Amino acid sequence: MERLYLRQDIIAQPLVLRWQAWPQLLFPPTAALNVVGRHLKIMRSFVQAPQAHEAACRNPALRSGPFLDAPAARKEEIRALIEETERRQRGLLELTQAMAALDKLLLDEARGRSLEPLYARVPEQLRGYVELVYDTRNRPSVRFLEPLLYRGPAYDTSVQGFALFPEAKDARRFMLSTPLLPQEGQVELALPFDAPAIDALVRMKDEPGSREELEERLRVPAHQRELFRTFFTPEAPPKPDPVPAGRVRVRYFGHACILVETGETSVLVDPVLRHGAPGEDSFTFSSLPARVDHVVLTHAHSDHTALETLIALRGRTGTVHVPPGGGSLQDPGLKPMLERLGFRDVRELGMLSPQQLGPGVTLTGLPFLGEHSDLDIRAKHVVLLEALGHRMMFATDARNVEPRMFEHVHRLIGDVRTLFVGLECEGAPLSWLYGPLMPEAPERTADQGRRLNGSTSDMAMQLVRLFGVKEAFVYALGLEPWLTPVTGGAHGEHSLPVVETRRFVETCRAEGIPSERLFLSKEIVL
Ligand SMILES: [Fe+2]
Ligand SMILES: [Fe+2]
Repeated sequence: MERLYLRQDIIAQPLVLRWQAWPQLLFPPTAALNVVGRHLKIMRSFVQAPQAHEAACRNPALRSGPFLDAPAARKEEIRALIEETERRQRGLLELTQAMAALDKLLLDEARGRSLEPLYARVPEQLRGYVELVYDTRNRPSVRFLEPLLYRGPAYDTSVQGFALFPEAKDARRFMLSTPLLPQEGQVELALPFDAPAIDALVRMKDEPGSREELEERLRVPAHQRELFRTFFTPEAPPKPDPVPAGRVRVRYFGHACILVETGETSVLVDPVLRHGAPGEDSFTFSSLPARVDHVVLTHAHSDHTALETLIALRGRTGTVHVPPGGGSLQDPGLKPMLERLGFRDVRELGMLSPQQLGPGVTLTGLPFLGEHSDLDIRAKHVVLLEALGHRMMFATDARNVEPRMFEHVHRLIGDVRTLFVGLECEGAPLSWLYGPLMPEAPERTADQGRRLNGSTSDMAMQLVRLFGVKEAFVYALGLEPWLTPVTGGAHGEHSLPVVETRRFVETCRAEGIPSERLFLSKEIVL
């Protein structure tokens, strides 16, 4: 039997009833609130006035707004998707009612007395899945028992699936506002996200295998088999080049995705990868080593915990290191989520608790303030990676709102050679990401004031000076074209983050510190 490779440019996009998967669509309580407060709302609005959505999507000022980016002619398909959602996600719709009822129960009755009598009155869908708690001011809240919820009826894998398509046929629009409709060149698979068959599919990018066998395992629909067969090639992919002995190689793959390799150990931070053959100007999935020993995630935003890339990496990943946290609606834990996605070794990285990842390679979690609209979200960390004596700090989107914090950190850990910092200093308002989770819409001033802001140039310069940084890179700005489905589109040259980035780079250089804004790709050998 002919043994073939999966083409490097084939993408397997995980979908939840046609919507691109992201962390809030996995945890059942947040998935439920998104289905009601985002998906159904946008789709119903589109069906009412498709031309208005079409017009809004042509206006760059409204990019990443709540507008469904599909031709008005596809109105009937959206109408059918609404009906399918109401039918197949009825359990989630009921879960939102259960959460509202529990919220009301706590508001009305949890006034400082024992919470024990309330357990019997928790709505059925949530019974046994929550702990009712007070803080020391007797303010009640709900703690979700996440690993149980992921294994209960609310986590329904029958609505999960994948769309397979070549990069050139990528029809994905902004994931928060537009479902991925069927289109020519796209194969659709009804498979749960943790299906081992998906690992077998991706493995064929490196190792040849039997296409026919795979076709059976993936349950490719008969009418799509012909197309599916075009996704394979007899041609072996190029072998990634080895790391020079005794050196550390750092490769920027776009956005916040950075691969750090020594001869023995590979560490991939915030993976979000493009597919296809490695171009002159970018690394791709095929530039990765056959085995990624460690994946490090900094926080649960969808441009850092990018599920399409993570699922594609699952079969070749050793350990995933995530920030600790979780338990609440706004802060679902990454460990139970990734375990439910089929990752076998997920570890929560304690703060200031260095972990040895390989010979001469250690990883340390540091505090991450801000960028989460002042919500009580703990699943986020800045990470310090030390490789063969070179210390690199990945500050990602952390906003340096309290310089004293980093002063304390500096006293404990000392200087850092290389800083990677995002200057997304004009992020979206609170409601953009968290609105569907809030029982009451925030008032306008609060919404606009509590933004998902990263550091400004001045805030990042404080880090450069404090940690005696020798080289500073600005990254995580969502500038690469393959980030569009995740971020909604790139910043213009006159946007505040880009202006602040120029200011930061110039200030660093004026102080004798090499600095640049990363874009598309970069390699540094230390
Ligand atoms: Fe973020
Ligand atoms: Fe980000």
